[in-house]
Amino acid sequence: MKVFVTGKLSDKAAQALSNFAQVDAYESDQPMEPSEVEQRLEGKDALVCILGDRVDAELFKKRPQLKLVANVAVGYDNINVADANDAGVLITNTPGVLDNATADLAFALLLAAARRIVEADGFVRRGEWTGWKRELMLGAELNGKTLGIIGMGRIGKAVAKRARAFGLNLIYAREGSDKKTDDDLKKTFQAQRVDLNELCCTADFISVNCPLRADTRHLLGKSQFDIMQPHCVLVNTSRGAVIDEDALIQALEEKKIAGCGLDVFENEPQVPQRLIALDNVVLAPHIGSATKETRAAMDELAVKGLLEAFSGKLPTNAVNPDAWQKFSAKLKTTAST
Ligand code: GLV
Repeated sequence: MKVFVTGKLSDKAAQALSNFAQVDAYESDQPMEPSEVEQRLEGKDALVCILGDRVDAELFKKRPQLKLVANVAVGYDNINVADANDAGVLITNTPGVLDNATADLAFALLLAAARRIVEADGFVRRGEWTGWKRELMLGAELNGKTLGIIGMGRIGKAVAKRARAFGLNLIYAREGSDKKTDDDLKKTFQAQRVDLNELCCTADFISVNCPLRADTRHLLGKSQFDIMQPHCVLVNTSRGAVIDEDALIQALEEKKIAGCGLDVFENEPQVPQRLIALDNVVLAPHIGSATKETRAAMDELAVKGLLEAFSGKLPTNAVNPDAWQKFSAKLKTTAST
């Protein structure tokens, strides 16, 4: 079995993979061009990639021997799953292991934006601090306010858990209609389900935690920013394109909302100059899951799923179990040739 990895895996994961497969790994930390990925995939059965690598029919057509793509991320909007199903390529992701790290970062951004930490840090470094003042760097208090969480999956719940410890009241908007989930969320977090527009006009703070899909692209746009409260602080640790970035910048410039904390952007790694020019935003380079512990766990889960699939067991982290039959047939053909 031959695997191409578009980066360096953590030690334990790398060891587990190389015990089982012939591994070719890209050694630079610069992003790979799609043509380079395609080239290095020649003769490989599996690809271990990151969220910056685009995977779709074009690649599957050129590399028909490819059977599995292990995306080392929970979000898999970089992969065209319908194309993968057609090509019989199994896709896995890394759910569950990055919830705490991502929720921590959502709170770091929320606190930084609400308490003006980046502004305050620059002020001290520039030597502008002349003494304690009543009105210096006044921000917003979290206790007793309302946090609106958009997307109440694993990460949304980890944000909710932290929110309760900060004395925040919780409202949320989510897809799905099962009553038991809403009852559980009420019981566990005293969280109240509302629709998206109600969340936007009621929340003092908003955390975006839903995946990017066709139906969540630009979920927040001008009409949502228009109804948010002028003191609202918005945090996004999911995917940039869930928010219409131009509309967000305009809302920030026009002070329709007070500030935001962004870990993700529509066209990463490009960050619009108009956003950089604003001092009511805190910016991070997509580091939601960037703790040593979590990144190791993500690599290990990616490798575990891959090894399971190639030993004939449908991995629990497969995102397209529908491709399992075609994957298994491809695997058998390879084994018999
Ligand atoms: C990070 O953004 C991930 O999807 O894991």
